[in-house]
Amino acid sequence: MGKSFLPASCTAAAALWLLSACAPEPSTGSAVVAAEDGAATPVRSQPAPSLPRPELHPGMPGLLNGAELEALHEARERGLRDIEGLPDFGFGEAASPERIAAWDIDIGPDGEGLPPGSGSVERGETLYRLQCVQCHGARGEGSQFEALAGRVPGDRFPFSEDRRYPITVGSYWPYATTLFDYIRRAMPQAAPGSLPPDDVYALTAFILQLNGLLESGDSLDAESLPRIRMPARDRFVRDDRRGGPEVR
Ligand code: HEC
Repeated sequence: MGKSFLPASCTAAAALWLLSACAPEPSTGSAVVAAEDGAATPVRSQPAPSLPRPELHPGMPGLLNGAELEALHEARERGLRDIEGLPDFGFGEAASPERIAAWDIDIGPDGEGLPPGSGSVERGETLYRLQCVQCHGARGEGSQFEALAGRVPGDRFPFSEDRRYPITVGSYWPYATTLFDYIRRAMPQAAPGSLPPDDVYALTAFILQLNGLLESGDSLDAESLPRIRMPARDRFVRDDRRGGPEVR
């Protein structure tokens, strides 16, 4: 690292952002000249930028005293997880476990978090005609919005090579459980969160059937949904990078 130099016009503070703009062309020799001048700035790894220290708001004198400001600053530096030492501001209320549970609706890839209930392909089709068809097309082919079905062309999965191919549930999504999670939290677009679990199972079943992954007459519940193997399942690798130079 100590052998890397930037032209003199690049300060150390700018180095992180301007690395590519400032990096000298190898053939120009400008880096050598700058280095011989002794004016070059070595690239050093920078400490993470620190958050601005909170200050007393002029319109609210005395809201926080010095120790409390310090506690707030430290809590923000630590990611706001621990705010001991702060006063009670006199507004807001503690969220009850029931209210937290109502927001805690994420479903894991293995089906963790799936609620009780079930729904059939047939019922899903009925619901889909009522609530989804105008935006996604009669067979999930897309109309004014995203296609939900189809694998073009076949099982080649060229979505990473050619962005012209539509990315659909059947061509792209690695886990069927994500479909339940997504529909329940986000659809129909004008009333997200309005569908009860039985309806979400049914719509999930119908969309999987449109993608050739279920047959007419099939139903889904918390046991069967995680067992569906999506066609694109092996097209993804787990990203276990933890930062550092290998992250591009
Ligand atoms: C008013 C239009 C509208 C309606 C009605 C609607 N959707 Fe959507 N849907 C969208 C839009 C827009 C998106 C893309 C949202 C985004 O990418 O942020 C979307 C995305 C989706 C996706 C994810 C597609 C993907 O591959 O990213 C699914 C699944 C889906 N909708 C299912 C449904 C279901 C099931 C219903 C009926 C209960 C429904 N939608 C009703 C507009 C609609």
